[in-house]
Amino acid sequence: MTRTPTGGLTDRYGRTAIDLRVSLTDKCNLRCTYCMPAEGLAWLPRQELLTDDEVVRLVSVAVERLGVRQIRFTGGEPLLRPGLVNIVGSVARLSPKPQISLTTNGIGLARTADALAAAGLDRVNVSLDTLDPVRFKKLAHRDRLHDSLDGLEAAARAGLTPVKINTVLMRGTNSDEAPKLLDFAIRKGYQLRFIEQMPLDAQHGWSRDNMVTAEEILSSLREHFDLDQDPAPRGAAPAETWLVDGGPAKVGVIGSVTRPFCGDCDRTRLTADGQVRACLFSKTETDLRKIMREGGADDDIVAAWQRTMAAKLPGHDINDETFLQPPRPMSAIGG
Ligand code: 5AD
Ligand code: SF4
Repeated sequence: MTRTPTGGLTDRYGRTAIDLRVSLTDKCNLRCTYCMPAEGLAWLPRQELLTDDEVVRLVSVAVERLGVRQIRFTGGEPLLRPGLVNIVGSVARLSPKPQISLTTNGIGLARTADALAAAGLDRVNVSLDTLDPVRFKKLAHRDRLHDSLDGLEAAARAGLTPVKINTVLMRGTNSDEAPKLLDFAIRKGYQLRFIEQMPLDAQHGWSRDNMVTAEEILSSLREHFDLDQDPAPRGAAPAETWLVDGGPAKVGVIGSVTRPFCGDCDRTRLTADGQVRACLFSKTETDLRKIMREGGADDDIVAAWQRTMAAKLPGHDINDETFLQPPRPMSAIGG
């Protein structure tokens, strides 16, 4: 394929997006309280979802024309997408081959980890908020802790490493569990990262008071572990990392709300229905599905994507009085 240098996905603040998050479905087999209501969330209509070929086309344009180097498949729950292994396989054949990762709740990963690794998936992040089955059921509204843990084990066995765990702490439910989760992760060789809860749930139930802050997470870990700031450079990684008891084990804290890292953001996002977004918190999106379905050329996709990213705002405004949550929930945007 002939490659036209396009200058990539740069914005007015000097940031360049090289990391693409692709949501493959807005559906999920859990109902984590910080994400979805227990019942009654409407799914995207089928005809609005990108087909596997459309996903691969957009990812190809991103990689081969726009300088994207890392692809992360998310959801909802991306393992619910029937074509996932084939999509990963097609993306792994792009040149240059991007780094491919998956954010999943781990349910069903035990069955597909080997096939995904063989197709070219490099690593996984598994969301896990508790090790207690009763709490899991309360937090995720489904009794699936064991499936999630089996998925973690299978990912490690399949070489989808480093296996990372994403944990969201919520006051009064699992906020006392940070040390226990870290102990578990270290024993198993997983890299644990805590994420501050963001206002992205479908039911708009976020409150600052319920959010367990990076500061609180660190002080609860420090009651059991020595933490020293990781000397490795952070780059565009959202997690600040800490060496645990002198290392080599590490723990990450993603202070999305209290320690925003927007100035170093290198991400661009594609929703399951083909909308490109400059930010999780964008109030606008650009319809790439329409361009494709009306017969647009790759050049048209390139131009629309660049325009969207050029207009990326300097940061989210969660800490402003005027903050408004984006109309779409995280499950429809992709984490
Ligand atoms: N705040 C913080 N993290 C969230 N996630 C989902 N919703 C939220 C939220 N409101 C996490 C999931 C998953 C990743 C994509 O983001 O646990 O690990
Ligand atoms: Fe599903 Fe992830 Fe949302 Fe939980 S956070 S309900 S696992 S999409």
